[in-house]
Amino acid sequence: MTTDATTPRWVKSGSLGPGRLRYGADYNPEQWSRDVWREDMLLMREAGVNIVSLGIFSWAHLEPRPGEWDFAWLDEIMDLLHENGIDVDLATATASPPPWLTTLHPEVLPQTIDGTTLWPGSRQHWRPTSPVFREYALRLVRALAERYAGHPALVAWHISNELGCHNLYDFSDDAARAFRGWLRSRYGTIDALNDAWGTAFWSQRYGTWDEILPPRSAPTQRNPGQQLDFERFSSDAVRDHLRAEAAVLAEVTPDVPRTTNFMVAQNVSDIDYVSWVPDVDFVSNDQYLRPGPLGRDDLSFWANLTGNMAGGLPWFLMEHAPSAVNWREANPPKRAGELARDALTHVGHGADAVCYFQWRQSRAGGERYHSGMVPHAGPASRVFRDVAALGSRLRELAPVTGSHREKARVAILFDYESWWVSKRDSHPTDAIAYDAEALAWYRALLDLGVRADVVPVGSPFDEYDVVIAPLLHVVPDALRRRLEAVAADGRHLVVTYFSGIVDEHDRVWLGGYPGALRDVLGVTVEEFAPLLPGEHIALASGATADAWTERISRVAADVDVLDTYAEGDLAGEPAVTRRRIGAGSATYVSADIGRDGVRGVLETLARDVDALHGDDHAAGGRVEVIVRENGDARFVFLANRTEEVVEVAIDGRPVGAPTAEAGTVRLDPRGVAVVETRWDAVAVRRDAEGVLVAD
Ligand code: GAL
Repeated sequence: MTTDATTPRWVKSGSLGPGRLRYGADYNPEQWSRDVWREDMLLMREAGVNIVSLGIFSWAHLEPRPGEWDFAWLDEIMDLLHENGIDVDLATATASPPPWLTTLHPEVLPQTIDGTTLWPGSRQHWRPTSPVFREYALRLVRALAERYAGHPALVAWHISNELGCHNLYDFSDDAARAFRGWLRSRYGTIDALNDAWGTAFWSQRYGTWDEILPPRSAPTQRNPGQQLDFERFSSDAVRDHLRAEAAVLAEVTPDVPRTTNFMVAQNVSDIDYVSWVPDVDFVSNDQYLRPGPLGRDDLSFWANLTGNMAGGLPWFLMEHAPSAVNWREANPPKRAGELARDALTHVGHGADAVCYFQWRQSRAGGERYHSGMVPHAGPASRVFRDVAALGSRLRELAPVTGSHREKARVAILFDYESWWVSKRDSHPTDAIAYDAEALAWYRALLDLGVRADVVPVGSPFDEYDVVIAPLLHVVPDALRRRLEAVAADGRHLVVTYFSGIVDEHDRVWLGGYPGALRDVLGVTVEEFAPLLPGEHIALASGATADAWTERISRVAADVDVLDTYAEGDLAGEPAVTRRRIGAGSATYVSADIGRDGVRGVLETLARDVDALHGDDHAAGGRVEVIVRENGDARFVFLANRTEEVVEVAIDGRPVGAPTAEAGTVRLDPRGVAVVETRWDAVAVRRDAEGVLVAD
């Protein structure tokens, strides 16, 4: 293999591939006896497991008393795994400090918004900004790195675990000190901070840095600029911890790649993972299926975003549930076919590893009702049979390893800050949700059989023919210019309601909404008109607005009205508009019209935008089409979105099950097929720039 400066280190080191997809789990052997370890090895081999994440919550076992190490058990299990051909993604074990540490140093315990201490007895009870915690954690990391530096089972480092999952927002005095330091380097002067936060409001003006606190519980609505900066600071503070551990590992084991498991769908906390990508050698993500009708498409959405965060390079699905979780209101098991469907949907979006939480279902502790690859019932169970079948399927898919995600022609922009700000109190309504709006567009595109990339807003989007910005609320000036360039370049921009409204400090752009995007869209809105619970407004096209409408009071001369409000105070007023700009256009959707409504808008645009024409393989939207490519071959993943059998005409060779006959592939309900198409078979060539194009 040839490598250059741009080849990721995990490929350079050769430790993680290419050659085979990785399959495995979090493995917590300290919860089990030696007999069970031996059975684990046999079962892992039977299931095709080739990697485990080890030691994630082992601190108390590794350092039973301050500065006293017990590595004997870890040596033994590392050796055993290696003898059985199973590699180790070794955790730095810092996620859950042992009781002796918090007894000696209760000052490492985090505090909630109202000053409540988060006590030991669970996990992640540490302040990201505590210098005391940092010192103990780094001592452990160094001890582990030195001990296992040359161990043949070690292929990657797993830094901490889901950093910030439970302790992202710490309002302690340590956090206050660190927040002030962060603000000083961001603003330089207290006047600049006062201006950014708009502290002329409610007598909030600061005279010195020491007066500033984290946005702790307060009598009523807190300062929005302060809240946004505290969110940014908290995300950066946890990233600093990641960097501190990574620096020790880089010093002791420079050739072992490092990762930490992201929670890109972050239903729990607000972290800007896009800014963390440069700090890991390969991206890994944890993703738990949301049970119910949205689940499959939702899972695909986040897998898609993770693949694009990774820049199209392969990444790790580090955690995923083999069946039920134990932390939602009700936790149904996975239904037939879902285990493989969910895994392969991630592989389609670029994952080269499918790993689960966890290998063996715990007998005791808070997660005893969370599924494992080996359930309480043992290996003679549906879950384990499905796990073993998936292991064989992944072996057959080895040719896919190392291939990249193929870019789509349509982008949905994704912005963490717009998501955080959209959750703020003090908004015109609580009834709109950033993630739901973005998912509605994704699903509408899937319904039309159109492939789209979910792209972090900071990544380049100048190669996409269509750029969709759902609820892109925070639009600083530089982003405004990038969005304007889409339409000016002859491409197509689509923007929804409540977008372009504020700058990077959550200060409203003046002169009418949608603020920063008013010029490119050619519309001016004077007032938002959110709806009351249960209220709906019909549009002339037949679409229905829920939760949000707007009064568009002016449209520029070159703007076409595509749809109008059909009832209520806004009857007859524009609801959806499109401005033509040379060969390009800028479309504005002023209401929350849901998946079916936005599908109608996309169908209208498709009349003159080729990129919005569906792919035949998508069988009228019943199948999601995802493509990976490696320069010689394309791997087309066909994922059945329905509960029925779907047959798809193909022009390639299926890789592994299911088999195809006479140019068709049969997808069982929830089934996924992978079809390999040589470039010449579909008349694809490279253009002058070396970019792959289909004729
Ligand atoms: C993750 C965590 C795992 C396990 C899992 C359960 O958040 O990293 O340790 O708790 O959830 O779904």
